[in-house]
Amino acid sequence: MMPNLSEIKDDMTKNGLDDLIIKLDHIAYRVKKGERVKAMAELANAVPYYEFKSFKVISMNAITSCIKLDKTSPVVVVSEGLDEDSIVEKYVKKHGGRIHHLAYLVKDIEKVVEIQKKRGITFTTDEIIGSEEEGIKQIFTMPTQTANHIIEYIQRFGDFDGFFTPSNIGVLMKSTEKLGEA
Ligand SMILES: [Fe+2]
Repeated sequence: MMPNLSEIKDDMTKNGLDDLIIKLDHIAYRVKKGERVKAMAELANAVPYYEFKSFKVISMNAITSCIKLDKTSPVVVVSEGLDEDSIVEKYVKKHGGRIHHLAYLVKDIEKVVEIQKKRGITFTTDEIIGSEEEGIKQIFTMPTQTANHIIEYIQRFGDFDGFFTPSNIGVLMKSTEKLGEA
């Protein structure tokens, strides 16, 4: 059985996680192929978001757009698959369009993962993805049992402000013309 919230909080504090996990960095949606722009418009209609970046994620065979409310608020990332074989489209076929993960900025990802593994948290990969040279390190937990979404831990280096390792993305312009070429 899960311990209660105050027991968990005490345990997190005791393990030093209060100081290592800084803030919500981004929220990532996965939506049906062809519905990324509609999803962004829906969100932007409710909250004054602006689009600031779009790129192709090669490993997922998907296009990802990022919208922001302001400089400091968590970014909202919306991905759609480029074809039926895309991991994003397969996910959406199974679960519907929805939030895929919540990403939290951390200070020392190795330390966080080491502590969390000891505490029984399981991850989708054995190793942390990315490197300091690439500007980003990240890892994903297994989905939560209650809401079936993933928690990502992310650490950035230098002025890198992306969401995936650079080797993993193709930069896109925002215009549909360029999007067609991707
Ligand atoms: Fe992410």
